[in-house]
Amino acid sequence: MSTPHPTTGPAVGCPVTGAFGATAALYGPDLDGMTMPALYEELRRAHGPVAPVSVAPGIDAWLVLGHRELLRLTREEQDFSHDPRRWGLLREGRVPADAPILPMVGWRPALLFADGQQHRRMRTAVSDALAGINGHELRRSVRATAEAVIAGFAAHGEADLVSAYARLLPMRVIAGLLGLDDRTGGELVEAVAGLVSASSVARDASRRMGAILHGLIEEKRRTRGDDIVSALLHHPAQLTDEEVLHNLVVMFVAGNQTTVNWIATTLRILLCDPALRSSLSGGHLSVDDALDVVLWRFPPTQNFPARYATRDMTFGGQDVRAGDMLILGLAAANADPEVLPDDGTPVVGNRSHLAFGAGPHTCPAQDPARLITRTAVDTIRHRLPDLELSVPESELKWVNSPWSKGLGTLPVRFTSPQLPQGPVPSRTAEAPAPAWPHRNTARPQPRPH
Ligand code: HEM
Repeated sequence: MSTPHPTTGPAVGCPVTGAFGATAALYGPDLDGMTMPALYEELRRAHGPVAPVSVAPGIDAWLVLGHRELLRLTREEQDFSHDPRRWGLLREGRVPADAPILPMVGWRPALLFADGQQHRRMRTAVSDALAGINGHELRRSVRATAEAVIAGFAAHGEADLVSAYARLLPMRVIAGLLGLDDRTGGELVEAVAGLVSASSVARDASRRMGAILHGLIEEKRRTRGDDIVSALLHHPAQLTDEEVLHNLVVMFVAGNQTTVNWIATTLRILLCDPALRSSLSGGHLSVDDALDVVLWRFPPTQNFPARYATRDMTFGGQDVRAGDMLILGLAAANADPEVLPDDGTPVVGNRSHLAFGAGPHTCPAQDPARLITRTAVDTIRHRLPDLELSVPESELKWVNSPWSKGLGTLPVRFTSPQLPQGPVPSRTAEAPAPAWPHRNTARPQPRPH
């Protein structure tokens, strides 16, 4: 790749010297969800809406911080491709095989890595499969799963809502939507998590994930079910089995951690912000409004890799060269002073945030993701009405990642669980798996963005 070529300002943040000179590191032990926003503002001041950063030692890229520039980056595919095979550094053999970013941006025959007609073909199949989810059934099954999970820890009077709640729900729900049982869904989650670890673990994880999804595809080819895999296999777009497999990987990876983060961060703001909580109980705000506050201020994916410049150009005041990697600075673009009111507070009801991206690749699962998150938050509020934090707010830490914005833990206590009547399983692992959502015949349209 040619380097980012800053036209203005010095390197800021934690400067590192890469092959192309000093840039700000978007990684490192001191950068987490708490410190990142200050780095974005420093970069914006020093470089404007597009800033040179390094995402790993020797791997430079452009971070797009401006709201307007991010809209252009996501909408203008002819200038900014999704296909990592255009990445200059990779083509020049300068990305180490164990670079942590590779599992995220390595090419697969899936919608996330395709442009134009090829993207539209896969996107139609994925969007139709997602739009076929029956919302009432999804809500019912998320609620049942949430209640079963809460019943697993209710007797303890305390829990970490990240590991004991938020992390369990989307995984189970998405696995169910794919037509997997809980156990195999759990194995798939482990395999997907392994994908982004050290390279030997990643190889095994990749094999295991491939085996699970191959088995699932074979089974659904034999017996069509009421699930996303069957919907993809039988879609008129005629995806190959390999394409189905890789699109499933993308859905799982894109959908799991993001939804975990959305649930946990929403619970955090409800627990930590008494004004918000009382507006909610007084009916002045809805849970959906709280979900939007999170999407504006703590987007579950703070930065998303990537696009690749298809030609040399000036973009956001910078000289960008063909093959350069550009990172979607979703959190920074949401905080762009150009789109926020003077007091810096996002307007309730305004959904012009970029937490789901924008343009042809905007997240196709916004409706089901919102429904899962809203139901997860609603259910725990009703079942554990006197929920409170069991540590000072200052002890809550964000996970150290340039990409994901999620809490490490959310310790809480409660005294009077209001659980539905019926047998209460003694451990989370024994929680019964509810029936999984049926599919719609009438297809809701994804929320316009
Ligand atoms: C059920 C949960 C979810 C599923 C199945 C899902 C699935 C997907 C898929 C398949 C894509 C690729 C779209 C394409 O390339 O055309 C995508 C993109 C994306 N999703 Fe989601 N997603 C989920 C939840 C979320 C959540 C909760 C967020 C964050 C609030 C999110 C943020 C994004 C972003 C930022 C992109 C990239 C957009 C771009 O490249 O321009 N997703 N998602």
